[in-house]
Amino acid sequence: MGLSLDAATLLRHTRQGPRYTSYPTAPMWREDFPDAALAEGLGRVRGPTAVYVHIPFCREQCSFCGCNMVVAGRREPGVRYLAALRRQVDELPLPAAQIGVDRIHLGGGTPTWLSPEELAELFAILDTRFLRRPGCEVSVEADPEVTTEDHLRGLAALGCTRLSFGVQSFDEKVLEAVQRPQQRERIGALMALARSLGMGSLNLDLMYGLPHQSLDRWSETLAETIRIRPDRLAVFGYAHLPWLKPHMRRIDAGALPGPLDRAELFLRAHGMLTAAGYQAVGMDHFALPDDALATAQRAGQLHRNFMGYTTHRDQQLIGLGMSAISELDDRYVQQKGKLSHWWTAVETGARVIEKGALLTAEDKLRRDVIYAIMCNFELSAAEISARHGVDFWAHFAADRPGLEGLAAEGLVELDAAGVKVPPHARLLVRNVAMCFDPSLRAPQAGGPRFSSTV
Ligand SMILES: C[S@@+](CC[C@H](N)C(=O)[O-])C[C@H]1O[C@@H](n2cnc3c(N)ncnc32)[C@H](O)[C@@H]1O
Ligand code: SF4
Repeated sequence: MGLSLDAATLLRHTRQGPRYTSYPTAPMWREDFPDAALAEGLGRVRGPTAVYVHIPFCREQCSFCGCNMVVAGRREPGVRYLAALRRQVDELPLPAAQIGVDRIHLGGGTPTWLSPEELAELFAILDTRFLRRPGCEVSVEADPEVTTEDHLRGLAALGCTRLSFGVQSFDEKVLEAVQRPQQRERIGALMALARSLGMGSLNLDLMYGLPHQSLDRWSETLAETIRIRPDRLAVFGYAHLPWLKPHMRRIDAGALPGPLDRAELFLRAHGMLTAAGYQAVGMDHFALPDDALATAQRAGQLHRNFMGYTTHRDQQLIGLGMSAISELDDRYVQQKGKLSHWWTAVETGARVIEKGALLTAEDKLRRDVIYAIMCNFELSAAEISARHGVDFWAHFAADRPGLEGLAAEGLVELDAAGVKVPPHARLLVRNVAMCFDPSLRAPQAGGPRFSSTV
């Protein structure tokens, strides 16, 4: 697949935009979202269901970090956090004392900041309400620096099927510039142990666009990654948002690669990984051909939610913990994002919601369109029309001029059958999806809220 785009085109189209991991964009969220609407959503949960648990703690803060995390050197916050999670799980107004689930994901922060014993306690808490259905996927994000062999043995015994290591880079100069001390040898050793313990799917996260990341240095990181051969890879473009995350000011902006360099870095990753047998999946993932993400992409069955790309369609997602988002059909609810506010609210039975969004039929239609483009790089007008009871091109007439502009440059193909992003333009897939997002048309107060599309 040729991904080449000329430099001028790339530069002209580089802009701030959402990554669409969670559909509702800023204007759709309401701080006065009613508690009853969350309870109603949880009371209706049935069918494919996933649970996301946010563990916010990390030993230190990497200066590039865009996650909702809290630095914790001592163990006490973990004890208090687990007690609050136990209460939250006990009190969930689900339709039954126990419900079946197909996926449990621990994200963060760093879930392996918790000790193996605390992780066992967490799973015991989850088991009180969530019955793992046969084939249930249990995935955990892990920082290799704080993850031990005991963690891996404990997680394997708890039924963990998928581990994701944040690596970002194997390059010492880059790691030093982002204040992330990391020993290269640990990663290969932990991966080998996880494999021997039967964890079937191992993922590494890499990041491009970090300070001092030249093409040569990045190629070395990619070569080392290929040598370790994880089943999946996420290759994220560094989102530099110092106006939202002041700690990112610790990064020397002068050492950051520009938009063209970033595009070249991504293209190098694409070239080396596909040559090594990986299949490009969605916007920023790569997977070995027999991995479930790769087979889902080939079958046009890839989907997207707050956890990123997924193989499950229409999965209800119950989010637990600080800042966690629940996605329940037509409603999205995020819990408080400041630790002191979150656990005080849970402990005192006060309101734990920070904000929520209720989707109209129109929002759900646009979500479907945007996810189809982000996941499969194409959509069928007939399929969307049938699913939502509309005439696709008549309905999106007002969005067409923006799309025509991209089509004139060969960045998207439009016809009666639908919309298609050709292989060479996939780097700009967010730009195509953004044409269908009405929230981006309103002028925004303050600084930009989004990361760069390239
Ligand atoms: C919760 S962290 C992963 C687990 C663990 N905390 C670690 O760092 O090893 C999730 C991933 O988000 C990505 N990430 C964090 N900050 C980012 C940013 N500013 N831009 C793009 N990706 C980012 C990193 O690749 C990171 O591995
Ligand atoms: S370890 Fe992960 S979550 Fe924690 S600060 Fe670093 S990137 Fe962020």
